Amino acid sequence: MSVVRVDHVSKDYRLGRQTFRALHDVSLAVAKGRFLAIAGPSGSGKSTLLNLIGCIDTPTEGQVYIGKEEVGRKTPDELADLRASALGFIFQTFNLLPVLSARENVEYPLLHRKEISRKERRDRVDHYLGVVGLSRYAHHRPNELSGGQRQRVAIARALAGSPAIVLADEPTANLDSKTGEGVLRLMKKINESEGTTFIFSTHDFRVMEMADRVVNISDGRLAGTGKEETGHG
Ligand SMILES: Nc1ncnc2c1ncn2[C@@H]1O[C@H](COP(=O)(O)OP(=O)(O)O)[C@@H](O)[C@H]1O
Ligand SMILES: [Mg+2]
Repeated sequence: MSVVRVDHVSKDYRLGRQTFRALHDVSLAVAKGRFLAIAGPSGSGKSTLLNLIGCIDTPTEGQVYIGKEEVGRKTPDELADLRASALGFIFQTFNLLPVLSARENVEYPLLHRKEISRKERRDRVDHYLGVVGLSRYAHHRPNELSGGQRQRVAIARALAGSPAIVLADEPTANLDSKTGEGVLRLMKKINESEGTTFIFSTHDFRVMEMADRVVNISDGRLAGTGKEETGHG
């Protein structure tokens, strides 16, 4: 079964009286455990597609499914719960809270999860700071960390909620190529050890090479059928 399914989705943005169609009839199925790159130039619709998969925005036409759940049928509260429990996000600009330490940034989204006890929360924060190699930097604030370290905090934050799916919108775009490669390797390692599905966007060929499946997007259209192929994707 697919962990993510996008079914004949189009997305229009309203620009005054005009509408601009950013996605045209996009269909995509993603199998569990994939390390999938959405590849395309700037303006091709990568962020729009990731925002729809991430339940941050809604399609104009078509449906998005996260596991068995059809996103469009959910109430805002149900959607917030689904986002918190099933999805983790990594952004191009890291999006850390500057006044919080690394460990507080990782802990922050867990504070809203009533089902996670205080002890469980602390254990997860310690564990994932360790996974990304930042235990020693737990009390540092973002401005005391390098770009690569900041992105690793963001990875720990995305993972701490134990999501089935991590969405990363150009996670290496603000990093030098060596640091970016390290961040990608870390994501790949977590993908392999924890079975977390990763969907990331990029226009960098070196980043695409690390994916086990690449879908190309241009002018809001996906190349190919978007179906999972059997065997090597
Ligand atoms: N909020 C918005 N309002 C109007 N147009 C938008 C908006 N967001 C994106 N677009 C347009 O949609 C297209 C796809 O944008 P985007 O998904 O951000 O592409 P990418 O992430 O591949 O650079 C672009 O032409 C962009 O200008
Ligand atoms: Mg983008």
